[in-house]
Amino acid sequence: MKVLVTGGTGYIGSHTCVELLSNGDEVIIVDNLSNSKIEVLDEIKKITGKDVKFYEYDVCDKDCLRKIFKENEIDAVIHFAGFKSVSESVKKPLMYYRNNIDSTLSLCETMEEFNCKKLIFSSSATVYGTPKKLPLTEDMEVGGTTNPYGSTKLYIEGILKDLYKSDNEWKIVLLRYFNPVGAHSSGLIGENPNGIPNNLMPYIMKVAVGELDHLNIFGNDYNTKDGTGIRDYIHVVDLAKGHIRALENIDNNKDIKIYNLGTGTGYSVLDMVKAFEKTNSIKIPYVIAPRRDGDVAECYADSSKALKELNWKAELSLDDMMSSSYNYIKKNNR
Ligand code: WQD
Repeated sequence: MKVLVTGGTGYIGSHTCVELLSNGDEVIIVDNLSNSKIEVLDEIKKITGKDVKFYEYDVCDKDCLRKIFKENEIDAVIHFAGFKSVSESVKKPLMYYRNNIDSTLSLCETMEEFNCKKLIFSSSATVYGTPKKLPLTEDMEVGGTTNPYGSTKLYIEGILKDLYKSDNEWKIVLLRYFNPVGAHSSGLIGENPNGIPNNLMPYIMKVAVGELDHLNIFGNDYNTKDGTGIRDYIHVVDLAKGHIRALENIDNNKDIKIYNLGTGTGYSVLDMVKAFEKTNSIKIPYVIAPRRDGDVAECYADSSKALKELNWKAELSLDDMMSSSYNYIKKNNR
């Protein structure tokens, strides 16, 4: 298949491009490089030995999108492009709504114009809001999102559900990610956000290489086994492979499809610190800090639907997540 990957030079996007190319698919990337680097294209080539076609465009710009669809016979689109910082979205909600929703509308309108109706959307477990019951299953109610970033994912899911209802020729898959961590085993691609990381693992990685001197653990008084927050961390390569399986199955879909992509196992912040220290034989100093607004105590997936329908399940271990993260940051610390 010829697949357009929006946001393909980003963290999850680049890992998915590697899996697509390894799977024999052709990849076209559109990315405005607002949160990624063009050098990622070379790394993808080094890993796979294959070139990708790249357009440095903003997905909100329909004229640019039209050009891509005119120049390429695109079979399907995987849509990653979007802003994704929870804390930044609280400070700049309009920027998040404009960018994440506008880009999706422009993309779908252009896809419709060119009669390309196979779409996989990068959604998030945040659409469940504060979990009422665990593990989370896809039939559970969504809503009550605790930040504008999560709300953009929720609203886009609603837009895509309405689009499918209006025209069921569309083949649409919503993939709800839990907490992506880790890096490709080559150490050539991974997550290395600019500035002070919001997420736990990139923060630990920067402490590990001495860029930051300690981790702040946001609260140890949650109603969990050790008081710290519990999340379902999934290796980014497992997550990327979930997209391949969704693509391989897309033609069989008789409805809009929704899948949780998680491991089904929750780990606490302290579990993650200890695992990183043990795997990499390194100390990660930390202090207990106040809770972070918007955090939930516990969140983890039931991904049995993806196993049943896509024959997909997460296979990489916590140890793989920790060793690949450290391997990557040691090679790529700015
Ligand atoms: C994990 C745990 C924190 C940083 C968010 C988005 C989600 C997805 C992943 C995009 C929590 C604790 C964190 C730190 C800490 N994003 N923590 N100190 O908030 O579960 O999910 O990122 O796809 O959509 O909502 O991830 O890594 O920020 O936090 O103690 O410096 O680590 O309190 O318990 P989160 P996170």
